[in-house]
Amino acid sequence: MTLPEVGARSTLLADWARGYESQPNEYACWLEPSAGHIPAELHGTLYRNGPGLLDIAGYPVHHPFDGDGMVVAVSFRDGRAYYRNRFVRTAGYLAEQQAGRPLFRGVFGTQRPGGWFTNLLDLRLKNVANTGILPWAGRLLALWEAAEPHRLDPFSLETLGLDRLDGLLRPGDAFAAHYHIDPACHWDGGAPALVNFGVNVGRNTRIDLYEFDPAFRLARQRAFQIDGFAFLHDMAITPHYAIFIQNPVRYEALPYALGLQGAAQGLASVPGRSSTIIVLPRHTALGEPRTFRAPGGFVWHHANAFEAGDDLVIDSVWYDAYVGIDPATDFRRIDFAALPPGRLARTTLNLRTGAVERRQVDPRCCEFPVLHPAQVGRPYRYLYLAAADAPTGNAPLQAIWKLDLHTGNQQLWRAAPRGFVSEPIFVPRPKSAAVAGAVSPDVGDPLANSSALEDDGWLLALLYDAARHETEVVILDAQDLARGPLARLGLGHHIPHGLHGAFSSRVSWPST
Ligand code: CO
Repeated sequence: MTLPEVGARSTLLADWARGYESQPNEYACWLEPSAGHIPAELHGTLYRNGPGLLDIAGYPVHHPFDGDGMVVAVSFRDGRAYYRNRFVRTAGYLAEQQAGRPLFRGVFGTQRPGGWFTNLLDLRLKNVANTGILPWAGRLLALWEAAEPHRLDPFSLETLGLDRLDGLLRPGDAFAAHYHIDPACHWDGGAPALVNFGVNVGRNTRIDLYEFDPAFRLARQRAFQIDGFAFLHDMAITPHYAIFIQNPVRYEALPYALGLQGAAQGLASVPGRSSTIIVLPRHTALGEPRTFRAPGGFVWHHANAFEAGDDLVIDSVWYDAYVGIDPATDFRRIDFAALPPGRLARTTLNLRTGAVERRQVDPRCCEFPVLHPAQVGRPYRYLYLAAADAPTGNAPLQAIWKLDLHTGNQQLWRAAPRGFVSEPIFVPRPKSAAVAGAVSPDVGDPLANSSALEDDGWLLALLYDAARHETEVVILDAQDLARGPLARLGLGHHIPHGLHGAFSSRVSWPST
């Protein structure tokens, strides 16, 4: 039995790794469904961000997180779809494309050619703008958590330059890739609020929390220091709090400074040590931040959080430990089975007693949790994720998974054996086609007009089909994943496995 399993595993790994070939080309074209029909009510633009180049003029990057950001936009209206992809023209991308060789070290381990001496004391960070995408108030920002966002034209995806948010950010200030949108902020009269943070690390760590109104004006701002080093990729919000989980990691900077490894390769989990839950009141009237001890492990992404009496409930994807790609390892050959899977778990924190309890929701390996935008920070029922095909064990993401957190029921749409999925994006069905996408702001208005049912809408995802080395847009009915895609739209080429996306109610068509 062992040999066929290993053979199947290596075919699977080869398929998965091929999805990480660079896509240097930029396209702009109409898409036709290869199967099914685009729902006529689906109105708006799906944006996705991720690494587009996995090599620089033939020099491979060491980790996909170091790849130059490329944004994909697919606009839907009246049952039609228009597609575009474009690189974020960061200073690093432009300089390296012109030079024809790597000029920067990547945070996750990519080194300049020439050995450690070339890299010695080169501590410049290359802002690769590859992690998140934010449509808000007519602006479109490509996000990378360690530096400022890049502003793009929402339709052409042309790079307009760094955006320091009207002077709010100073040069080099961090603006995270994981904003959250409070669908009805009670300090802002029930209007949506964009909540994001920036982590500036050093001997101690400073977290800046920013909140913006639907016109992208600063509504609230808080800053606080936490002791020591913290690696914080995401947060969760509730109506009153921003919640961070600081995992037990240590950081060794010297090998990075000496040119031996990337900045993030000095990161390692500390076994046996606990995590810290940081509860930051979003408004100064609610007092100072509080911290609570929680079980250890590692979290990249939170699914959602909500308040229930004295309890804060925080759903997250947990790993037993942080896993990096060490300097001697090729990420294309990683042994999935040897690494800890991400699994959904619910943490309940009692704010009065400080008691913390964590329980696994399901053992299936998963990532990229999303939900109905109206439920962010609120009690909720349905969660959607990218998941492994098998019910246990670590493996590539090959299925879209729906969890009913009230009943425990599940639905799974499988793309295996040769399909690989990205983060799904949930788009609520509009109450009526007439009001869909009527006015700005981008994210707020569909909520007011959307169906009251929490799973009444669509899931949009990019699917990499290794059999054809092609990426497709798939549109699933969120109420019935098992029926398969309502439509599949082949791009005619592949897009490397990506990171995060967003949906905006705005649509622009080409004039021709
Ligand atoms: Co992320």
